Amino acid sequence: MTENTPNGKMILEHLNWRYATKAFDAGKKVSDEDWETLENALLLAPSSFGIQPYKFIVVTDPAIREKLKPAAWGQTQVTDSSHLVVFAYKKTLSDADIDHYVERIVEVRGAPRESLAEYEGAMKNAAKQSVEGGTVETWNSRQAYIALGFLLETAALLKIDATPMEGFDAVQFNEILGLEDYSAVVICAVGYRNAEADYLADAAKVRFPREELIQRI
Ligand SMILES: Cc1cc2nc3c(=O)[nH]c(=O)nc-3n(C[C@H](O)[C@H](O)[C@H](O)COP(=O)(O)O)c2cc1C
Repeated sequence: MTENTPNGKMILEHLNWRYATKAFDAGKKVSDEDWETLENALLLAPSSFGIQPYKFIVVTDPAIREKLKPAAWGQTQVTDSSHLVVFAYKKTLSDADIDHYVERIVEVRGAPRESLAEYEGAMKNAAKQSVEGGTVETWNSRQAYIALGFLLETAALLKIDATPMEGFDAVQFNEILGLEDYSAVVICAVGYRNAEADYLADAAKVRFPREELIQRI
């Protein structure tokens, strides 16, 4: 542990503070500095092989958010939060996607491409199998949810509210956002709670007892 390591008590206090906010304060915006931290948390999320088969669409344009709201069951978080992140996964994986990633490793780490041949082969094989087996969309969308977890936790640590949401029509979202090779899978509204307007702001957390969820063997 270094002096910069957050302590457990503090982390848990923040995680207990967070909740899936229903009512955001439309007048309160996340600062540029905090937003950059949150974007970095998205970028730092791990993914299978590191392939990053997703993109994060940050929607701040009020007109677009008004269009998205009816496609999200009219949920007010879509328009009232400071930022709305749409997590979109790649609908397929090709050799070109793997090449793109391998080239990035070479660029960042300065490794010769040949030294990555085995890794490249393993990734191309896994990608091919998932495409042929019809599981690629599930695989890729799972990776997007890891990034969602990173965003939720980082926001909580900054005392910024964030609501993960699956209550929306992906087909309509894709159409409004012009997504073709990607598909929206989950969204996250980020901002500051309007505690007075939110019946859940002071509600106790509902979680099963530890023994029910954690098995020790
Ligand atoms: C994948 C996912 C989808 C969710 N979809 C919605 C949603 O569409 N609208 C909403 O208000 N809350 C949504 N929630 C919030 C959950 O209801 C909430 O996280 C859960 O009840 C636990 O409460 P807490 O997050 O406040 O601790 C979603 C949560 C997750 C993880």
